[in-house]
Amino acid sequence: MSPSATTNGTKGSIETPPRAPSPVHNFGTLAVHAGSPHDPSTGAVIEAISLSTTFAQTGVGKPIGAYEYTRSSNPNRENFETAVAALEKAKYALAFASGSASTAVILQSLAAGSHVISVSDVYGGTHRYFTQVATAHGVQVTFTPSIELDVASQIRPNETKLIWIETPSNPTLKLVDIRAVATVAHQHGIMVVVDNTFLSPYIQNPLDHGADIVVHSVTKYINGHSDVLMGACAFNSPELKQRLTFLQNAIGAVPSAFDSWLAHRGLKTLHLRAREASHNAHLIATTLSTSPHVLLVNYPGLPSHPHHAIHLKQHRNGMGGGMLSFRINGGKEAAERFCQTTQIFVLAESLGGVESLCEVPSSMTHAGIPKEAREKVGVWDDLVRLSCGVEDGEDLKRDVLQALERAVVWPKVNGMIKSGEHANGETANGAVKDGKLVNRAV
Ligand SMILES: Cc1ncc(COP(=O)(O)O)c(C=O)c1O
Repeated sequence: MSPSATTNGTKGSIETPPRAPSPVHNFGTLAVHAGSPHDPSTGAVIEAISLSTTFAQTGVGKPIGAYEYTRSSNPNRENFETAVAALEKAKYALAFASGSASTAVILQSLAAGSHVISVSDVYGGTHRYFTQVATAHGVQVTFTPSIELDVASQIRPNETKLIWIETPSNPTLKLVDIRAVATVAHQHGIMVVVDNTFLSPYIQNPLDHGADIVVHSVTKYINGHSDVLMGACAFNSPELKQRLTFLQNAIGAVPSAFDSWLAHRGLKTLHLRAREASHNAHLIATTLSTSPHVLLVNYPGLPSHPHHAIHLKQHRNGMGGGMLSFRINGGKEAAERFCQTTQIFVLAESLGGVESLCEVPSSMTHAGIPKEAREKVGVWDDLVRLSCGVEDGEDLKRDVLQALERAVVWPKVNGMIKSGEHANGETANGAVKDGKLVNRAV
């Protein structure tokens, strides 16, 4: 909870009736009530969007309330930060203009000459920042594919300041044992950051497992409706709070009041969405794993997953999350055909929204990584990534099965298909009927 907020979410001397939340409450109660005070003057249950960029003062240097200028702080962003802190079981949270801005601010907080150890399998934009931006201000990053084994040998005395983990990884869904890495890191006074975007605070709370900072692309599950770009980080250290708040204001990569309000509204249903998405992903992963058209399924919730034991230890109630990937029979062409013949899964980048999405990482989200480096971590041309939404699970299952059939079986039955046209005569944008393009419809 932000230090300027009292336990019932009010600021300064303004009083509203005592109410939830407090740390004794469970996730769903916190999601709905944390950082959501009633409006003290109107009683409005839902907070107003505070668009004012500046706040009146009663005397020089004497603001009426807790705010002066919106980049430094504003009611909607602060309420959202209070809610994120509650859900990540942290003392503090800070919001940023994007997940990438959160990453940048954390890296900017390191002194020149610092060294960072990162898992190899990080989000492409994080990899780009580490290799092409952090170096410009004197921060070196070493990547390792098996951090639990390598971490001790990669530490440079007096130089290594931070370890960066993404678990599950994107798009191969490998897991990292946060506690194992944090134990070694803390013996050397090194901080551990976990990007928790893929699971959301509902399924995993990295601070409980020894991490020092948890980061999110709020754009994904926390907002959950594919209509806001935002980021956040949460932590317990007052020193970090001071340093990162300074950088949040000094760098100025902050979200608007409107986006903060929207993301806060999305967060209130996070537990419902994450639970349903996880349920759907489990159903789809199970379905795919029994299909003769599938070579491999990457999903932590399956007992066959190599890190299933870590998943049981780190994830709430054994949930696997809403993300999965699989290798399809028939190579890159089959992967592309699959994504172009689904009728509910939308072919698009991003993840974590209420709607299901599919993509081919090697040609889309991970196209910037050289083929050899990609394949080393399992990102083959035939890999398809799915973000399961909250539609009806049985409908999603039927969609996946029909797309597999069209992607793998139909080309064999029909012989060679014309280039630019799929097995059933569809293009990427829709079906071609009588020379006309008919939109893909559910
Ligand atoms: C795991 C992960 N971390 C960070 C980011 C960056 O977030 P944003 O797009 O909000 O800048 C993404 C974006 O896809 C992501 O998937």
